[in-house]
Amino acid sequence: MSELHPLSRRLLDWYARHARSLPWRETRDPYATWVAEIMLQQTRVDTVIPYYHRWMTRFPTLHTLAESSLQDVLACWEGLGYYSRARSMHRAAGLIIRDHGGTFPSDLHTLLSLPGIGSSSAADILSIAFGQDMAALDGNIKRVIARLYDLPDELDTPAFLRRCRSLLDELLPSGRAGDFNQSLMDLGAGICLPGVPLCDTCPLSENCLARERQSQATRPVTRPRAAIPHVQVTAGVLLQSYNHSQQVLIARRPQSGLLGGMWEFPGGKQEAGESLDASLIRELHEELGVSVEVGRKVGVFKHAYTHFRVTLHAYLCHILSGEPSALAADEIRWVTLPDLSGYPMGKLDRMISEALVKLPD
Ligand code: ADE
Repeated sequence: MSELHPLSRRLLDWYARHARSLPWRETRDPYATWVAEIMLQQTRVDTVIPYYHRWMTRFPTLHTLAESSLQDVLACWEGLGYYSRARSMHRAAGLIIRDHGGTFPSDLHTLLSLPGIGSSSAADILSIAFGQDMAALDGNIKRVIARLYDLPDELDTPAFLRRCRSLLDELLPSGRAGDFNQSLMDLGAGICLPGVPLCDTCPLSENCLARERQSQATRPVTRPRAAIPHVQVTAGVLLQSYNHSQQVLIARRPQSGLLGGMWEFPGGKQEAGESLDASLIRELHEELGVSVEVGRKVGVFKHAYTHFRVTLHAYLCHILSGEPSALAADEIRWVTLPDLSGYPMGKLDRMISEALVKLPD
């Protein structure tokens, strides 16, 4: 680590004038920094801001988070995606209270022992909230460094990561790591853009090897993306009348895996050669132990996850025989339509819920 590298001075000067004004930058509370950094993993700043405000109002301290139910925590996270992040934070809050006296840990080893905190979020938290000399390395920073030094290694290979880390360690200004890391994040988000970077406004343009060699478009080096699979999924809405109101059946997914702990309408993937109706009848038999007749269509809903795209076909269904039981889910529940909003759900199931409320009789 150098005293103050000229390039770091430029960056810090630029940051002093151009830092984005973001809600989590108004505090040094490590809990708030942790919340923001976990939300910001794989998620854009603009998307995170309203979630961050809502979360900090709902769970202002580590204690309020630890004492809340997982269901409330997931409901507050609904729509942000990658729900294991919320489950891990809830567990980590409990562990910090149980094992660390309720004080947010400030050492790397302890942070890494907590669920959901890897070396990247640990570096963010330790540098920003505790002023420790640790370099952050996220997608924006990788792009900036790959261009600044015209790195020929493929993104995220061990050689690429080694080079990035060693270059960042050379640049890291002692005592200013939080600002330094965030200046690179802001530079990547606003100037050193993934498509065409705005080099004319970049404080480092004179130091940038990719600009000198006109290789910005090919830095960082990436592999062509594989085509992402597109799956057809069916979901069934089972109805019952109870106390003069309509109830629908929802199921809570197992805690591990995609959308763990979230509620959904039962159903699943269409198999090759299977009609949508046949797929739904099979899925509801496997998941709930009931035979159904498929009724009218509620709607067709689409959503793109990171690694696959889903088209979901939702139908009302009528039970012909059997009593639903939670064969594949952690729990099943009959709930009224107005109550659906209180159950955390992924995007597609929330779309079904909203369509049901609007469905004509
Ligand atoms: N992305 C991840 N952490 C961030 C931060 N602290 N500020 C802006 N963008 C970020």
